[in-house]
Amino acid sequence: MSTAPPPTTALITGGARRLGAACVRTLARRGMAVVIHHHASDGPAKALQTEITAQGGEAHLLQADLADPEQTRTLIDRAATLLGNRPLTLLINNAAIFEPGTLRQTSLEQWQRHLAINLTAPFLLSREFARQLPPGLPGQIIQIIDRHGHRPRPGYAAYSAAKSALWTLTRQAALELAPAIRVNAIGPGPILPAPGDSAERFAAIGAATPAGRSGTPDDILSALLFLIDHDFITGEMIRVDGGEHLR
Ligand SMILES: NC(=O)c1ccc[n+]([C@@H]2O[C@H](COP(=O)([O-])OP(=O)(O)OC[C@H]3O[C@@H](n4cnc5c(N)ncnc54)[C@H](OP(=O)(O)O)[C@@H]3O)[C@@H](O)[C@H]2O)c1
Repeated sequence: MSTAPPPTTALITGGARRLGAACVRTLARRGMAVVIHHHASDGPAKALQTEITAQGGEAHLLQADLADPEQTRTLIDRAATLLGNRPLTLLINNAAIFEPGTLRQTSLEQWQRHLAINLTAPFLLSREFARQLPPGLPGQIIQIIDRHGHRPRPGYAAYSAAKSALWTLTRQAALELAPAIRVNAIGPGPILPAPGDSAERFAAIGAATPAGRSGTPDDILSALLFLIDHDFITGEMIRVDGGEHLR
């Protein structure tokens, strides 16, 4: 268990919807002041902020396109300003894109967009997070990767390459930022169907895992809280995928 003081402030990228919003709600319930980053989801972000403040929590909104390195680089400073110049103590790199494309099909633009959002943004945010953390204050970074951070997914060349490089970055950062900052990852399996995915196709993906089913956001949240609470763990990825990485 943790002997370090728990994080009190958190930035969650892509926090307005789906798994990001589930993380936001969980951290807010833990009493953290949350900064909800979003890109296109203004409405859901505002609704989530209203929900949290109505429950007595503290939530702020930050809009940015993480495909643009300049917008990404300044996000941490903007978050600290919204928090009244309190430092950020937890960063969750959750935002990502997930587009199909074999190596033959993938355009340079599609490749670069995946690297910008799924890899360069977590790099820039992790770097700026480390720079802003005052000496003596413990920090944590949690990357939401994929079980395909370990093994390529056929038909998703750019996505697989970016996510596996994010796993390397996670371990690099864990080494270089220790002991001040712990850096860990979660590797989800099938949790929520991708937009446009049919219920039948998603059920078949779940059924093909060793567990024989898909997971739920709660499975991700328990891994998240476990990593936050255990301060002898760094450079680790918890795969929450029903064993799919073994196949
Ligand atoms: N869902 C699953 O079953 C599953 C499985 C394996 C891994 N994962 C990983 O878990 C994480 C969350 O999954 P999810 O399915 O909840 O994700 P998602 O809905 O596909 O995307 C999360 C957020 O990323 C943000 N985003 C996309 N492009 C952006 C851009 N250019 N700039 C800034 N933000 C951008 C979007 O924000 P806006 O809505 O504000 O535009 C979106 O809400 C992702 O890293 C994903 O790869 C999920």
